[in-house]
Amino acid sequence: TGALQQAKLVLLGDMGAGKSSLVLRFVKGQFFDYQESTIGAAFLTKTMPEQNVKFEIWDTAGQERYHSLAPMYYRGAAAAVIVFDITNTESLGKAKNWVKELQRQGNPNMVMALAGNKADLADARAVTTEEAQTFADDNNLFFWETSAKTNQNVLELFTDIAQKLPRT
Ligand code: GTP
Ligand code: MG
Repeated sequence: TGALQQAKLVLLGDMGAGKSSLVLRFVKGQFFDYQESTIGAAFLTKTMPEQNVKFEIWDTAGQERYHSLAPMYYRGAAAAVIVFDITNTESLGKAKNWVKELQRQGNPNMVMALAGNKADLADARAVTTEEAQTFADDNNLFFWETSAKTNQNVLELFTDIAQKLPRT
């Protein structure tokens, strides 16, 4: 108990990986097959009463031309979710680059999670669970395979982060 802990959380990752869809699923329980590409960034909040945490969420734009804005959103963040698309090898490469950038320039105590999204598209899988898990283990990231579409592991991902936040 005690005061609600506010925690800034940022989502980073390739365009189309499903950052906005994961956030929309988590915050509003919604999913859209034709989710619009994010321009700049979007801000949403979500309270998890059982964890006593209020997430202040920055959903960034994955398009390359917005890359230079990212530090504004990850600076001071308590947590980051780096999202890739399990059907897209290149998106894992982009995720690895984001992890490197956060390790160099982010808050050193940041709780980081890797989300392999679109797990419902198993027939089109291009990244094995083992490859992503190994990368996650080597870099101290939590790893979940998620689907914003079916709601697989979405709550688990954010609950894991909430539980690992340093208590202030
Ligand atoms: P940017 O805002 O451009 O960086 O993209 P984003 O990472 O926010 O991706 P977005 O959430 O807009 O999703 C891109 C497309 O993938 C949309 O058409 C979504 O409907 C679809 N999508 C997102 N998550 C999933 C998922 O888990 N499964 C499936 N099948 N499609 C998904
Ligand atoms: Mg988006």
